[in-house]
Amino acid sequence: MKNIVLIGFMGTGKTSTGRLLSERLKREFLELDGAIEEKEGVSIREIFETKGEGYFRKIEKEIVKEASKKDGVIISAGGGAIIDEENFKNLKENGILICLEASADVILERTKSLDTRPLLNVPHPKETIEGLLKKRDPYYKKADFRIDTDVLTVEEVAERIIKIS
Ligand code: S3P
Repeated sequence: MKNIVLIGFMGTGKTSTGRLLSERLKREFLELDGAIEEKEGVSIREIFETKGEGYFRKIEKEIVKEASKKDGVIISAGGGAIIDEENFKNLKENGILICLEASADVILERTKSLDTRPLLNVPHPKETIEGLLKKRDPYYKKADFRIDTDVLTVEEVAERIIKIS
């Protein structure tokens, strides 16, 4: 059975949706950022601060490769993971790629009180979100399905995924 792989920008609900899908479908849940933190023994924020984004992307690539070998699991990938061609190929090989989407305003609202996302921990997060969304759109478009989460609850998003998967 193929994996269900949730991709998409930060704050689109990949982790909460993945957790709920895992419960509903009784399938294992792999949250790749969590796996990176476990492997490194520190938070994503600390990895970015002390070792930089390049190092984070290297570990992310290893974790993606391992996760892609699984079968029938629910995977939530960090927002930047599929920008890398090899990560995209690995995740796609045995996975249905579902991209969760949201508008810049909604993403800002959902992420502004958190300091766990180093890329958005900047003086003008809205501009950063808009810029990154534009840059990443061609990659997110390569998903098998795209779901706009702006006005949907996590339950509704999970229901849609269950229907299409
Ligand atoms: C990132 C998204 C984050 C995390 C890291 C970089 C990105 O994951 O991997 O902070 O480049 O979009 P979430 O999308 O789960 O927040």
